Amino acid sequence: MRGWGLLVLSLHVLSCLVSGVASGRTSSYVRTEFPSTDIPLESEWFAIPKGYNAPQQVHITQGDYDGKAVIVSWVTPEEPGPSEVFYGKEKLYDQKAEGTTTNYTFYDYKSGYIHHCLVDGLEYNTKYYYKIGSGNSAREFWFETPPAIDPDASYTFGIIGDLGQTFNSLSTLQHYEKTGGQTVLFVGDLSYADRYEHNDGIRWDSWGRFVEHSTAYQPWIWNTGNHEIEYRPDLGETSVFKPYLHRYMTPYLASKSSSPMWYAVRRASAHIIVLSSYSPFVKYTPQWLWLKNEFKRVDREKTPWLIVLMHSPMYNSNEAHYMEGESMRAAFEKWFVKYKVDLVFAGHVHAYERSYRISNVNYNITSGNRYPVPDKSAPVYITVGDGGNQEGLASRFYNPQPDYSAFREASYGHSVLQLKNRTHAIYQWNRNDDGNPVPADTVMFHNQYCTRRRRLKKNHLHLEDLEDLISLL
Ligand SMILES: *[C@@H]1O[C@H](CO)[C@@H](O)[C@H](O)[C@H]1NC(C)=O
Ligand SMILES: *[C@@H]1O[C@H](CO)[C@@H](O)[C@H](O)[C@H]1NC(C)=O
Ligand SMILES: *[C@@H]1O[C@H](CO)[C@@H](O)[C@H](O)[C@H]1NC(C)=O
Ligand SMILES: [Fe+2]
Repeated sequence: MRGWGLLVLSLHVLSCLVSGVASGRTSSYVRTEFPSTDIPLESEWFAIPKGYNAPQQVHITQGDYDGKAVIVSWVTPEEPGPSEVFYGKEKLYDQKAEGTTTNYTFYDYKSGYIHHCLVDGLEYNTKYYYKIGSGNSAREFWFETPPAIDPDASYTFGIIGDLGQTFNSLSTLQHYEKTGGQTVLFVGDLSYADRYEHNDGIRWDSWGRFVEHSTAYQPWIWNTGNHEIEYRPDLGETSVFKPYLHRYMTPYLASKSSSPMWYAVRRASAHIIVLSSYSPFVKYTPQWLWLKNEFKRVDREKTPWLIVLMHSPMYNSNEAHYMEGESMRAAFEKWFVKYKVDLVFAGHVHAYERSYRISNVNYNITSGNRYPVPDKSAPVYITVGDGGNQEGLASRFYNPQPDYSAFREASYGHSVLQLKNRTHAIYQWNRNDDGNPVPADTVMFHNQYCTRRRRLKKNHLHLEDLEDLISLL
């Protein structure tokens, strides 16, 4: 099945290349209908681990700049209990790290005790076992550290956005877990707890348990979306991102950021920049200043793959959230082009879309062409807000399909990015379909810095693209 899908798709791409015309495509695929309602709280997918005060909602994320540390987080419901992580290369757990505990209230909801523990000084490319909780309630997990920072280190990232906790979300998660992805780049909108009366925090807890079978074993690189803002002055809750900031930790200090909401990590051959769509980002703001400096710290000789994550997409031809990313585009696009960013992943729009390499940096209000144009230095923009939350799909695209849009489809799914070496990455978007992972969009990306492209002529057949596609078959 998988092979056939790839074959048909590759043939389509081949035919476009041979004809010399880059034509965008709107998929005619009609997805299987599942109800977009949240899984009931009493479901086994939200099962509370057995034992008094057992740790739950276990999740890990990268804990430093270069991948030699993780932050382990979990919740204990009844009492704080120890904030310790026992770990080691074997299940002897001969090492120990000490963390911190926090808790919060949101209107009439009272959180459990939220633990965050930095485990650092780890070796690269190593499997570690870890244990949290005490006595009969202790729980054991493991994770693998990434390879050392190296331009040719291969590594596989999953990209998931707007996940929520419906049966579609479950399908996305289960498909992702079959891919061999080693770390998730999450592009915002986690639990959708804010869709409940008083933003019921119980749905933050159920989400934490729902994703645990992935998040306890591999890092998820977190980013916020609009559903994390939770600004409810009518409930007396005016501290924005309050539940998110208590529950999800990021290694922002390691990249000299002043906020957990925007930061960067380096992992294997990738430099990953996380931006906050809902924090100030115009000129002179902390996020703007930080990004300006972070781009200068990027060393493409060490990490050739430069990836940016945000929630609200800059290029989107869906009727949903149209142009909401425009203000960030105006602020940051010129840097993305200047620094030759490879890929920009966003969520927010509940559909899938991939752009060509285009930019719109010439327009300056006074004059200039304001239509996006092909630009070899520009990133490819990919929207993967199709994790499957309770708001359902954004099924209406604007017609005709704009020239910048290469492929778009309103289905649930996730993406996988396999960085092969400093020059090549294989990228796939997988739609959720009847229990089988179906790669519905497959592209070989050439690195924007370590490029070995020998273009024949502009708008003519790209010989190496053709070779790559044949090797994919
Ligand atoms: C946090 O937990 C402590 C200890 O149980 C409790 O006294 C305090 O009120 C809690 N704080 C919040 C904000 O819920
Ligand atoms: C605006 O763009 C036009 C056309 O690209 C250019 O000639 C002009 O110098 C720009 N003006 C400013 C203030 O950047
Ligand atoms: C990089 O990876 C691509 C795709 O797997 C492969 O075709 C190419 O030969 C590799 N380059 C080197 C230098 O190994
Ligand atoms: Fe969103």
